[in-house]
Amino acid sequence: MKGIILAGGAGTRLHPLTRVLSKQLLPVYDKPMIYYPLSVLMLAGIREVLVISTPPDLPLFRHLLGDGARLGMRFAYAEQARPEGLPQAFTIGRGFLGGAAACLLLGDNVFYGHGLSDVVRAAARLERGGRVFAYHVRDPERYGVVEFDATGRVLSLEEKPAKPRSSFAVVGLYFFGPDVCDLAAGLKPSARGETEILDLCRAYLARGELQVQRIYRGVAWLDTGTPRSLLEAATFIEAIEERQGLKVACLEEIAWRNGWIGPAEVEAEAAAMGKSPYADYLRRLVTEGPAP
Ligand code: DAU
Repeated sequence: MKGIILAGGAGTRLHPLTRVLSKQLLPVYDKPMIYYPLSVLMLAGIREVLVISTPPDLPLFRHLLGDGARLGMRFAYAEQARPEGLPQAFTIGRGFLGGAAACLLLGDNVFYGHGLSDVVRAAARLERGGRVFAYHVRDPERYGVVEFDATGRVLSLEEKPAKPRSSFAVVGLYFFGPDVCDLAAGLKPSARGETEILDLCRAYLARGELQVQRIYRGVAWLDTGTPRSLLEAATFIEAIEERQGLKVACLEEIAWRNGWIGPAEVEAEAAAMGKSPYADYLRRLVTEGPAP
């Protein structure tokens, strides 16, 4: 399984914040937003990741993340010239995937909570079909909405419906089998002129190969779509980190726990980051070891 982070888009809903900087590079408390979805891929055990963004923003992501070797990973980069829909990740990413199954994460989706690692690690073993995740929200009309029965059978999928048939949003985390690029290539743009991720999911549903799994309330799925929700997400992360003395989405810590790097690499990263609290945290990790 390989990972794709889609980190493009126009970000107009956050202007002027995002006039010159990609939304997915904005801070969520003490680190750039993309650290959070990247950490989820790492928790799933995915080591090869393609970052897709706009032509002006892509060099910034490359500058920030490099080739991945510092984390014992491999990062590749690709441009999306225009935001023509989420499934475009698979037409752009076909060469990168090379026939592997894929996990797509939207670069503005921030998750944190109990049991998340188990959920994504299990999903990363998927060999065929599709798996999406349903999360109960107060305002489902802002998202893709999935309706399902008690056995988990999907009854309907609708993008931002005026009258949602359920309170379950489809989160921006999708697992698909190796046929995903072929299915994505066959999609037609919707009325809004983009290909739709839910049409891709429907293609799996039509074959009886779409699974929906609930993510329960023990996991926070944070909104970053408005200035206010962005601030609230940062405050949430701050509260967790300050209370526990542990960091959320510390990439070097996860890489170390996964056995992809050792303390020497963590120390080198700390040295490269100077005097920030994040760097201090890495130094403490090296002397004390990751918390059990
Ligand atoms: O966050 C979950 C939601 O994400 C799902 O519930 C929806 O079904 C799904 O369509 C998507 O809804 P959004 O309204 O958040 O989609 P948006 O067009 O804003 O794109 C989501 C992210 O992906 C955003 O950070 C921009 C980026 N993007 C989007 C498009 C359409 C790209 O990088 N390229 C694109 O072509």
